[in-house]
Amino acid sequence: MVLSVAGNSLVSGFIKKYGMKLGAARFVAGETLKEALEQVKLLNRDGLVVTLDHLGEFVFNEDEAWASTRACLDVLDGIKASGVNSNMSLKMTSLGLDLSKELCMKHMRMILDKAREYDNFVRIDMEDYAHIDVTMEIFNELRQEYGKHVGLVIQAYLYRTVDDMKLLEETYENLNLRLVKGAYLESPEVAYPNMEDVNKNYKKIIEMHLLAGHFTAVASHDDVMINFTKDLVKKHNIPNSQFEFQMLYGVRPETQRELVKEGYAMRVYVPYGNDWYGYFSRRIAERPANAFFIIKNMFRK
Ligand code: FDA
Repeated sequence: MVLSVAGNSLVSGFIKKYGMKLGAARFVAGETLKEALEQVKLLNRDGLVVTLDHLGEFVFNEDEAWASTRACLDVLDGIKASGVNSNMSLKMTSLGLDLSKELCMKHMRMILDKAREYDNFVRIDMEDYAHIDVTMEIFNELRQEYGKHVGLVIQAYLYRTVDDMKLLEETYENLNLRLVKGAYLESPEVAYPNMEDVNKNYKKIIEMHLLAGHFTAVASHDDVMINFTKDLVKKHNIPNSQFEFQMLYGVRPETQRELVKEGYAMRVYVPYGNDWYGYFSRRIAERPANAFFIIKNMFRK
């Protein structure tokens, strides 16, 4: 319901105008790279590593796709110049995926050339179901060209996920995947409609990927999944270097720091930029309690 309301133009107009002041700043680390890098430094100081994301998705012309590509190149330059401990995440629809696969590939190669030059890493976020096949195709091509410098996200809510993972795991060594529950509104024809099944599948893919010896990023705020991972790695003597936890900027910041204190690697997904509305709407949809933040700020003098 929240995602449907978010699509309403009156609601989106209001939130886009006032949202940063009303609470989006809790989840978005600023509108400029400079502001975001300041936040990254603070997180690094507390022992957290980062993946920076220049917010943007679903661009409609080549100029917009190029502007997003330029911003990604700037992120890699900014990380290099400032010396912060961060890699980068991106959404391929922001690089022109809906305009053409070739255009998106061209932009991805520019970004990955730089990531390789700086010995950094680019994570391709997984978007809605309509983009899965093409995302997989592109990932396969780029993984062969750029190896360890590129990784992908896999969503537990999809029925096809286990098969997709099996195929990827058979094809590549040291396959760096971020495993998530899944954030988009999908049809029951392609995704488990109830959370119990999603959670069951999530545990299954965490176990599958870790036991196959691949690097696993467990991206979840759910204590059940975090504890499941901790127990699993202990039981199978999996070293801490083979996995990391990931959480979103502004979500459970105390837990993020506790995990670091316990000796685990914790990577915070830090989004920044003007185009924060879609990202912010998904955070509200996942946890409507986050909306109380906005309401509270509306009435604060
Ligand atoms: P979920 O939302 O199911 O919550 C389960 C439990 O966790 C809650 O009941 C509560 O106990 C606890 N919890 C959750 N939020 C809390 C809070 N704010 N405070 C206290 N407790 C809280 N999705 C996607 O489709 N493609 C992608 O590329 C990505 N990328 C990505 C990167 C990173 C780093 C993260 C953390 C997440 C994503 N996601 C994503 C989003 C993901 O698919 C999912 O929608 C959200 O992480 C929410 O699911 P959780 O597993 O966090 O728990």
